[in-house]
Amino acid sequence: MIPSRTDVILGAQWGDEGKGRVVDYYAGEYDVIARFGGGDNAGHTLVVGDRKLALRIVPSGVLRTRPALFIGGGTVVSLEGLLDELEMLRSLGVDISRVKVSDRAHVVFSYHAAADRENERARGALALGTTGRGIGPAYTDKAARSGITFGDLHRKEATADKIRHNLLAREPLLGQAMPREEDVVAQTLERAAKILPHVVDGVEFIHGALERGKRVLAEGAQGTLLDVGYGTYPYVTSSHTIAGGACVGLGIGPAQIDRVVGVVKAYCTRVGGGPFPSELHDAIGDRLRQRGAEFGTVTGRPRRCGWFDAVAARYASRVNGLSSAVLTKLDVLTGLEAIGIVTAYRQASKPATFAAAGEPDLETEVTWVDGWTDDLSSARGIWQLPLAARNYIAHLEGVLGVPIDAVSVGPERESIALT
Ligand code: GDP
Ligand code: IMO
Ligand code: MG
Repeated sequence: MIPSRTDVILGAQWGDEGKGRVVDYYAGEYDVIARFGGGDNAGHTLVVGDRKLALRIVPSGVLRTRPALFIGGGTVVSLEGLLDELEMLRSLGVDISRVKVSDRAHVVFSYHAAADRENERARGALALGTTGRGIGPAYTDKAARSGITFGDLHRKEATADKIRHNLLAREPLLGQAMPREEDVVAQTLERAAKILPHVVDGVEFIHGALERGKRVLAEGAQGTLLDVGYGTYPYVTSSHTIAGGACVGLGIGPAQIDRVVGVVKAYCTRVGGGPFPSELHDAIGDRLRQRGAEFGTVTGRPRRCGWFDAVAARYASRVNGLSSAVLTKLDVLTGLEAIGIVTAYRQASKPATFAAAGEPDLETEVTWVDGWTDDLSSARGIWQLPLAARNYIAHLEGVLGVPIDAVSVGPERESIALT
């Protein structure tokens, strides 16, 4: 992939597709890696040499020396989480002065996390299975125009006033779980003093870079099917994870984006509640979970596993306007005699679209393709893969309607077979 002015890399399923490792692979070719949405509900894993990193909010270009690392205005960020992550990176020898946070990003407070947990408890059987990080309540405050931005942190008194107001408003929900106002204010101002040197005018930063001819790689978080508008609502996150979210999250126009690359896993996973039409509740599902190490990076929860869902993938290709895709974790399928792909949805024997994913009478049609037994991990070109694996890739390209640029065959940075 030859970098262009602005490229977007995002998840095309329910998150954890391997976005972090794909961004790391390409990041050395760009000048800025920019996270455009979400917060520390994300966990992006990089494996480079004997180093394994799980990043929550800092963009996945950290192990490349060249790019600036920009946390865009569409994100919601915990000061404590960001400081911990910066400290972890500093201890690894990363130059953390490269990390910049947009003044438009919103702060996630401990009262957001408390409210997230209370909301989940109140939902009972209808709980969403959130990460409990306060992401939903922080975006709620943003939309309600009572959020606190990183730009606000420059004004101590105004920040303290807003915190007081927000705590008062949450008193009925939080009750005993209410943090003490003076503690929140004091902690916030102390942490803000450490973060403020990283805060920049986000619009000046990104447009200044573009106007100087710099190349920007926008990194998505979560996945298309968790988008608040186009995912399996209400079992979604609270941000726009699709390509349009990159425009909103960075403050750039659609015409400034050159390419949108979707990261798709060779099978599907989902963590948390909600519709999952191709889910396997059998030994094959367990096998995918074990071989794919499908346990949440943030919460440690086992991920639900299932076959590749072609209906969902086609939908994701459309709502993102994908230019191409990167296929990940193909090695996890090695050893299966036959591989299933959900190729159609039906309701009352009639074809249904992805919109029916959560319907109780949904039926799925599975198409079977041949598996392979050869170890894929040393392949660096697609021609080195067994025929059955190449057929599988060709099938998925047909589904997505776009070319697959690269296929990952192991978690390590170099375990990529180029097409
Ligand atoms: P992200 O949130 O999209 O960045 O993905 P995560 O990091 O949450 O989850 C992907 C997991 O799969 C991580 O543990 C990666 O190290 C691992 N992984 C990524 N690509 C591959 C691959 O091609 N093969 C295998 N076996 N593991 C991979
Ligand atoms: P990355 O970037 C997978 C899921 C949660 C839950 C729902 C809402 O690593 O792919 P939230 O805390 O966001 O309000 O939870 O979204 N979720 C993710 N699932 N990967 C993620 O991020 C996710 N971020 C949120 O499990 O179902
Ligand atoms: Mg993840």
